[in-house]
Amino acid sequence: MIYLTRRERFNAAHRMYREEWSDEKNYEVFGKCSNPNWHGHNYELFVTVRGEPDPHTGLLINLKEVSRILREYVIDRLDHKNINLEVDFMQGKIASTENLAMAIWDVLEPHFKSLGVALHTIQIKESENNIVEYQKNQ
Ligand code: NI
Repeated sequence: MIYLTRRERFNAAHRMYREEWSDEKNYEVFGKCSNPNWHGHNYELFVTVRGEPDPHTGLLINLKEVSRILREYVIDRLDHKNINLEVDFMQGKIASTENLAMAIWDVLEPHFKSLGVALHTIQIKESENNIVEYQKNQ
């Protein structure tokens, strides 16, 4: 089994909060990420797919195809956007890195499936020290 990982970067704004909570309560739970006036992160997205390489080419998947799928369905929809307000696949969700990783999985999964590889993990690095990794139970 081959595992192939592609990295893409995007920056985006968000606010972590529950609407029914006061600013104080939101700060208590979400810390600085609850700032009512938004803030941004420089995110790194690592998408890993798995499968067996094609014996004729030695390749698991064309990396240009991987890049195109990530750009078209994820990066172009997130980069320089406000995750809370502008990203359709995050509507109604708290804009956490955890929720973002799960949402990105659901967006990407069918596109890789149609190319004959399985999505393996989604990792999002929100800052130098914080990385979220997601694998959907299938
Ligand atoms: Ni934040």
